[in-house]
Amino acid sequence: MKKILITGASGFIGGFLVEEALKNNYTVYAGIRETSNLQYLQDKRINFFKANLSSKESIKENLLKVGKFDYIIHNAGATKTCDKKMFNRVNFEFTKNFIEVLYETNNIPDKFVQISSLAAYGPGNPETLKPIEENDNPNPLSLYGKSKLKAEQYIKSLKDFPYLIFRPTGVYGPREKDYYVMYKSIKQGIETYVGTKKQYISFIYVKDLAELLIKSLSSSVIQKSYFVSDLKNYTSFEFNSLIKKNLNKKTVSLVFPLFFVKFISIINEKLFCFFSGKISTLNKEKFKEISQTNWLCDSSDLVKDFEFKPKYDLEKGLEESLEWYKTRNLL
Ligand SMILES: NC(=O)c1ccc[n+]([C@@H]2O[C@H](COP(=O)([O-])OP(=O)(O)OC[C@H]3O[C@@H](n4cnc5c(N)ncnc54)[C@H](OP(=O)(O)O)[C@@H]3O)[C@@H](O)[C@H]2O)c1
Repeated sequence: MKKILITGASGFIGGFLVEEALKNNYTVYAGIRETSNLQYLQDKRINFFKANLSSKESIKENLLKVGKFDYIIHNAGATKTCDKKMFNRVNFEFTKNFIEVLYETNNIPDKFVQISSLAAYGPGNPETLKPIEENDNPNPLSLYGKSKLKAEQYIKSLKDFPYLIFRPTGVYGPREKDYYVMYKSIKQGIETYVGTKKQYISFIYVKDLAELLIKSLSSSVIQKSYFVSDLKNYTSFEFNSLIKKNLNKKTVSLVFPLFFVKFISIINEKLFCFFSGKISTLNKEKFKEISQTNWLCDSSDLVKDFEFKPKYDLEKGLEESLEWYKTRNLL
């Protein structure tokens, strides 16, 4: 059986990657840290890889114990943090540490899948609404996007490194915490919009993403990058309408001007970080992204290279996600 390491296994996407890898009969190693919550990593077949990614020594020590992996999905990442330095540190430096150790110990896998983000390219043109494409010049707006781009550039600079890079757009599904804030708001009868301009957005359901990533491991494609969406375009209005329909709610629409959302992001970030040490969903870095109007992307290469055929569009994905929250009395 082929051996696979999935870093960030305790996170939202990581948990689904582990499930999909088990389903495909891989010997699965879940990359976690001492403090990680293992709620969704209870399957007895899961092995654990507890390397501290900030320390090359720790990675080496753990690799020595386990031996070479056939495949690595490097999914661990900092998506929001009170300490802004952590974006670069976790998303770029830890990735570099990790790959350097793979070289130093002669443990390069057959494939190294890097989970980047659409944010690494930044938004598309708000006038033409052309979906973001591989050949566009990356222009990340947030520190998060910048750190993801830096990691991509490092990986691409390595000669003959067997990488694939995937840049998911907004990922949603059961267990997710940020879109959940919007579901709850609609449940309470409030539908919100950022700015007065129509926002064009894209999505990928977490199970379709996991299936695609695991499938990509056994393909012969190498050294290529992809944007990952469900191949459809949506607006924030459609997103809210589908949730409303599903929850059978009448709502009041609140359209907040950008300056106001920016102000709230600043206050939110300061208060949450100061009082809880945790960053809120709406924060200064996130504002830079949610204030944009074109987050469409071109994922057509996935169809060509992996016969990608998402099983979920937004309506079906939301239906399954909302059901998950409802059955746990979270909605
Ligand atoms: N969700 C999206 O919409 C989306 C879109 C595009 C790309 N992505 C990318 O997908 C990946 C997974 O995201 P997610 O949404 O699943 O986020 P998540 O739920 O926050 O999971 C992040 C994972 O990374 C781990 N991690 C964070 N900081 C770490 C550190 N300092 N050392 C070791 N591990 C660390 C976390 O471990 P703990 O559990 O111990 O905290 C967790 O397992 C990330 O690379 C993210 O950038 C996500």
